[in-house]
Amino acid sequence: MNHLHGKKILIGITGSIAAYKIASLVRLFKKAGAEVRVIMTPAATAFITPLTLSTLSGNDVLTAVIDTDNWNNHVELGLWADAYIIAPATANTIAKMANGQCDNLLLAAYLSARCPVYVAPAMDLDMYAHPTTRTNLERLESFGHRIIPAEEGELASGLIGQGRMAEPEHIFDFIEETFRSGGSLAGKNILMTAGPTYEPIDPVRFIGNRSSGKMGMALAEAAANRGANVSLVLGPSAQDSRHPNVTIYRVQTAQEMHEQATALFPECDAAILAAAVADYRPKTAADKKIKKQNNNLTIELVENPDIAQTLGKMKKANQRLVGFALETNDEIANARKKIQKKNFDFIVLNSLKDKNAGFNFDTNKITIIHSDNNTQEFELKSKKKVAEDIIEVLVGIL
Ligand code: C5P
Repeated sequence: MNHLHGKKILIGITGSIAAYKIASLVRLFKKAGAEVRVIMTPAATAFITPLTLSTLSGNDVLTAVIDTDNWNNHVELGLWADAYIIAPATANTIAKMANGQCDNLLLAAYLSARCPVYVAPAMDLDMYAHPTTRTNLERLESFGHRIIPAEEGELASGLIGQGRMAEPEHIFDFIEETFRSGGSLAGKNILMTAGPTYEPIDPVRFIGNRSSGKMGMALAEAAANRGANVSLVLGPSAQDSRHPNVTIYRVQTAQEMHEQATALFPECDAAILAAAVADYRPKTAADKKIKKQNNNLTIELVENPDIAQTLGKMKKANQRLVGFALETNDEIANARKKIQKKNFDFIVLNSLKDKNAGFNFDTNKITIIHSDNNTQEFELKSKKKVAEDIIEVLVGIL
């Protein structure tokens, strides 16, 4: 179901180079069947023409409270909208919003709006990191507005850092998800582990496994799309996310993953442990590359910490813990044992027997087993859809 169909989206554009990207954002909303109206500050018109945006939105673009012979009714615009998205939002406009200043139509409509307000900042990295910008953004959040955080990357100044406006697709996904789920995880902190771990044998070699981190990344983004702040502790994996709500902590070994996860868990409402953690590591990692010898080589392995078990012991009554199990035999019985041992609220079971499921595939087939033995089976789906199912179940128990 398309949750944006027929919705009234008001977009306020301010004077940032990222303004040109709003043409794509308008198209995304139009394609989803939403009605779009655009307000621009006078400075924004230097970056993209009102004509482009009126053509794409199918509505006149307004820039001033008073045109040649028209008074533009900001109150009517503010009441019309189901969502008001200020994108790109400059430091200047954010400061004005935080302080109730009202010297243009965009701000007048903001003060008149009764709908949810979203702000997608765009500015240089130092401006974005400046305490005054931080304070202003916190103030906007305290009004209940949702900030769609700026992304990392190359900035118009040539500097590299956080400050680029979130990509139009991310802004669109963010808004669509809030219409879909009402931001059901807004304000929640979720910890996730994903990917394999690499246990060094020497500076060149390691013991690893075939986990790609795809399932974990899909979970992180699904939770982030519902408004959760996700801390993703990720083993060596090619996966990456520029989702504004996902913070990635990259680690190599099980011990590093254990340390990072246990440090983050106390502040979290839930943890989903999708990492394929190595159960054993070489007792010692040689500091020089091991030379070939003329006889067999034995590597002694010692047990790694079990992250899930540690978190299961730390878990407070208001925290939830979700694990994964990849089994080749006696799946259900083994999964149940794991729920007990690791104090999971539910476990996601994927069997290697299922075609196209498991490591490196883009699809997965899961069964969820709850701590009360209640069992839910799901069909083979894309990992993205599977992630949404798992997050839905988590929302249900949070
Ligand atoms: O016992 P098993 O490895 O099959 O358990 C799988 C679950 O436990 C997964 O959720 C996995 O992420 C977690 N786990 C862990 N630390 C380990 C081993 C497994 O967090 N050392």
